[in-house]
Amino acid sequence: MERNRQPITANGMTAQAGVSFTRLSAARASADLEQDAIAGFAARPKSLPPKYFYDAEGSMLFEQICATPEYYPTRAEEGLLACYGRDIIGAVWPRVIVELGSGSSQKTRRLFDACEALRLPVLYQPLDVCSEALRRAAGHLADCYPWLQIDALIGDYVADLGMIPPVEGPRLFVFLGGTLGNFTDEEAMDFLSRLRAGMCPDDCLLVGFDRVKDAAVLDAAYNDAGGLTAAFNLNVLKVLNRHLDADFNRDDFRHRAFFSRHKRRIEMHLVARRAQQAHLRRIGLTVDFAAGESILTEISRKFTRDDIDGLLGRAGFAAVRHDETQNGYYSLVLAAPASRSQ
Ligand code: SAH
Ligand code: AVI
Repeated sequence: MERNRQPITANGMTAQAGVSFTRLSAARASADLEQDAIAGFAARPKSLPPKYFYDAEGSMLFEQICATPEYYPTRAEEGLLACYGRDIIGAVWPRVIVELGSGSSQKTRRLFDACEALRLPVLYQPLDVCSEALRRAAGHLADCYPWLQIDALIGDYVADLGMIPPVEGPRLFVFLGGTLGNFTDEEAMDFLSRLRAGMCPDDCLLVGFDRVKDAAVLDAAYNDAGGLTAAFNLNVLKVLNRHLDADFNRDDFRHRAFFSRHKRRIEMHLVARRAQQAHLRRIGLTVDFAAGESILTEISRKFTRDDIDGLLGRAGFAAVRHDETQNGYYSLVLAAPASRSQ
């Protein structure tokens, strides 16, 4: 499985042999934050898109959350990948694995292990908004899987979905962690439909879904005793201060996360501890907060099996296999474009 590996330098970024980096949306990141902050602070409730959690520090905090005893989804999904990874790779026989929101790529190793066992060399295209997370992940993967060709893509999996460099497939698109749950139903439908439209008949999608369960388990997962989720949530204020020359004081806000059974979602908020104003000088915006007013920083939807089948079906996918943990906490679904399986 050794490959002829050449060092590549793309867009001014140095790379290890076998690893390249491409920035898909060079000019856009800060303009996005400006527009999202203007729209989000005008909305009621005030809100921010979750992608701004993930600067270098936010990505590290997320990795630490994954290791907490309360945050079960990572262990659940890794268990499913370890159990069924070989069956999944055997069913798709991909030449390319494209991972959206790849982060540390830690769990994806179970798929590379399966490729290795099946003697199937693949190209890995991890796509993430956080360049630091991509760089760290690619470095570790290159050490552990010297046969793996890695084309890391720095970008936004919504805005840049159509910019993923096309490579001859079959391609396995991977969207792990329950990250699809961070979309509203409308956003998820739009995202999946666009993904489906860009897929060839032999391509597949592997997607993780966190399931509806006891509220106490969910509430604990988003309120870990060590305070890492709180730190992760509050970190977005630092991101705003840095990029928008803002003056948020994190001591003036507190983390709040709870499961709404009615909406079948976790809502994560930053709640103002007192009435205050924040100044976002770079965009000339002053934001007033009443005491107790909150910013909705993330939704994390939880799914029933019917929700999963319905969403995938409406977006033009059919499940090829649906693996779930014994306790029903988590599902990993391999789906194909519906026209292929009908
Ligand atoms: N897939 C990993 C990481 C999940 S955390 C896992 O299952 O553990 C979500 C990841 O998606 C983070 O790495 C974050 O940087 C990335 N992300 C969030 N919003 C994004 C967006 N709009 N475009 C690209 N990446 C995004
Ligand atoms: C990335 N995403 C699926 C995580 C989730 O559970 O919604 C982000 C997270 N937020 C708080 N803890 C973890």
